[in-house]
Amino acid sequence: MKVVIVENPKAVGAAAAQIIATVVLAKPRAVLGFATGSSPGATYRSLATMVQAVHLDFSEVRGFALDEYVGIPRGHPASYAEVIRREIVEPLGLTPANVSVPDGQAQDLDQAGRDYEEAIIEAGGIDIQILGIGANGHIGFNEPTSSLTSLTRIKTLTESTRRDNARFFDHLSAVPVHCLTQGLGTILRSHELVLVAHGSHKAVALAAAVEGPLTSMVPASVIQLHSRATVIVDEEAASLLTLTQYYRFVASHLP
Ligand code: GLP
Repeated sequence: MKVVIVENPKAVGAAAAQIIATVVLAKPRAVLGFATGSSPGATYRSLATMVQAVHLDFSEVRGFALDEYVGIPRGHPASYAEVIRREIVEPLGLTPANVSVPDGQAQDLDQAGRDYEEAIIEAGGIDIQILGIGANGHIGFNEPTSSLTSLTRIKTLTESTRRDNARFFDHLSAVPVHCLTQGLGTILRSHELVLVAHGSHKAVALAAAVEGPLTSMVPASVIQLHSRATVIVDEEAASLLTLTQYYRFVASHLP
């Protein structure tokens, strides 16, 4: 795993955007995995700047969202389909039909999960998956005790995740209890992972994910199993890491 520590959230976004842009430049029909939430916001904004400044072209890029709530309509402003349309598809100029989000409205959610896995495979797999991390160590909506080999399926959100996400809804009781999320096994199948985090509220989860034991109690620790994972964090999110000196040494001695 490569750990990159930068000064602030904007620099986190710039560094992640650089990695994603490299993938898209090499493969205009690349398949990207999209996270929502506030963590990757600066990454998408930085990519949008590149679209304008250096004509980075996303029109052929295909995308798969990590997760979606169950029980709110697609057009709901907090639905991830809507967030992805607003924060990614429009500013980056993706073709809407090229972007898939798990169908949280499906009658048969188990089938919707299987269909989503099938669609990812048919697209040739995800070239690069962008990840945030929840304060309890979740990635996607894989809450603690998620199976390390899980695929897209329905999950029940923890009280703490619902509280964290209540800011996107009118009140806590409006936050859905269930979601459809790519599994940890799905995430591990991506060819490359980029996890971004900023802020002191992520420091505990980040340190556990990067330097703690591999455990379903910290779902993000599963990235330790991936051979191409980059973690990009600001100073605050990195504050509880123990090997920061080493990570900085690596950065200044690139092979
Ligand atoms: C949400 C999303 C995750 C995201 C995480 C962190 O629950 N399902 O994909 O990484 O929470 O959110 P934020 O970046 O807003 O802190």
